[in-house]
Amino acid sequence: MTTPLRLGIAGLGTVGIGVVKIVRRNAALLALRAGRTIEIVAVCARDKGKERGVSLASCAWEDDPVALARRSDIDVFVELMGGSDGPAKAATEAAIEAGKDVVTANKAMLAHHGQALAEAAEARGHVIRFEAAVAGGIPVMKALTESLAGNEITRVMGVMNGTCNYILTRMQNAGLPYEEVFEEARRLGYLEADPTLDVGGIDAGHKLALLASVAFGTRVSFDGVRIEGIERITIEDIRRAADMGFRIKLLGVARMTARGLEQRMSPCLVPASSPLGQLEGGTNMVVLEGDSVGQIVLRGPGAGEGPTASAVMSDIIDIARGTRLPTFGQPATTLKTARPARVSAPAPYYLRMKLQDKPGALARIATVLGEAGVSIDRMRQYGHEDTTAPVLIVTHKTTRDALDKALPGFSRTGVLAAPPVALRIETV
Ligand code: NAP
Ligand code: HSE
Repeated sequence: MTTPLRLGIAGLGTVGIGVVKIVRRNAALLALRAGRTIEIVAVCARDKGKERGVSLASCAWEDDPVALARRSDIDVFVELMGGSDGPAKAATEAAIEAGKDVVTANKAMLAHHGQALAEAAEARGHVIRFEAAVAGGIPVMKALTESLAGNEITRVMGVMNGTCNYILTRMQNAGLPYEEVFEEARRLGYLEADPTLDVGGIDAGHKLALLASVAFGTRVSFDGVRIEGIERITIEDIRRAADMGFRIKLLGVARMTARGLEQRMSPCLVPASSPLGQLEGGTNMVVLEGDSVGQIVLRGPGAGEGPTASAVMSDIIDIARGTRLPTFGQPATTLKTARPARVSAPAPYYLRMKLQDKPGALARIATVLGEAGVSIDRMRQYGHEDTTAPVLIVTHKTTRDALDKALPGFSRTGVLAAPPVALRIETV
């Protein structure tokens, strides 16, 4: 009879309780698949008295996650508290020092400290697994580190924040303004405690940085992700994009180029008929491209109790089976420091602006674009609003840097009635 795998779970919120439920409900199945039983020996959360809908009477309780991580009667420390630093990091470090394997869903912690934690764990022969941290229930880390391990990965991209996709698709389908849908998302409990993590693109940026590390064999570089949120997207943008056959998505793209590692997380226009364009609600989608396999599209729930706990369990079962992979798919000490690409690949851009409705206004904008080397493909002026006119320009392929040079020039023309919005049109 093999020995059971003994878990210590820190964090009994949405994901932690999801894991407890799976371990209990599927105990026999897990034992058959893992070749040994999986037991929850000890747990930890802030409030011991909180009703959590499951009995924890058989588990030892710790008030301090670091004490849990150091317990001699656990094999795996399961970190499901969250936060890039503080107790999550302290307890993960303690677990590694104490000789435990670690499973976590914490993208913020790994985006900031993944390299140091991976090196520490690997130096001691332990593993850190984080399937649940990227795109929740979608098995994307397994796909990259195992199924596609024979490929040179050329590009990874995706919609990896369900809340933003919910907001954008709800605006599209119900014709509601951003502010109203944001409040609806808050009422439904979709937003993180700090909503800027979602709508500011930071949560999705953390996930992209982790994906890029595994895809390109580079050290996690969250600082190298060019991040823009969805806060400035208006219902007008959604409608104009739809008129042109596009949808707006908070899209992450990472690729290795001759200019360095390009990582961006920003609202983009994608063709309405593409798989990314058709992605509705809180669902996530990750697109992986490899030199041999071509394109793989993975779609599924990116958050929630069941899907996220399902991903945590896949890591736990791997450890129970004895599968021991390096954290980022190759030894952490062999990961290269990527040079961030300062210029992203050229693409057409959508520009929305509100101009003073006076002679020569449009000509001044066109001149600024021309001087910055940005060529106009299409231009349209919509219904006048008092003394202003909404104008939409689609450029030929250009770089974000050329546009960034042009945008301040718009202000100097004196004809702008509101700050312009520039969105990349992404080929998918
Ligand atoms: P949550 O519902 O807010 O639960 C957090 C848990 O951590 C709570 O049980 C809380 O205790 C406990 N906790 C917080 N600080 C603690 C401390 N100092 N000491 C001990 N316990 C502490 O969070 P969650 O949604 O389950 O998320 C957990 C992790 O999974 C995060 O890293 C998150 O980013 C990641 N994740 C979540 C989802 C999702 O859909 N929710 C998806 C993917 C990844 P109390 O219950 O007593 O307050
Ligand atoms: N806030 C995240 C989202 C949760 O909306 O996708 C899952 O990481």
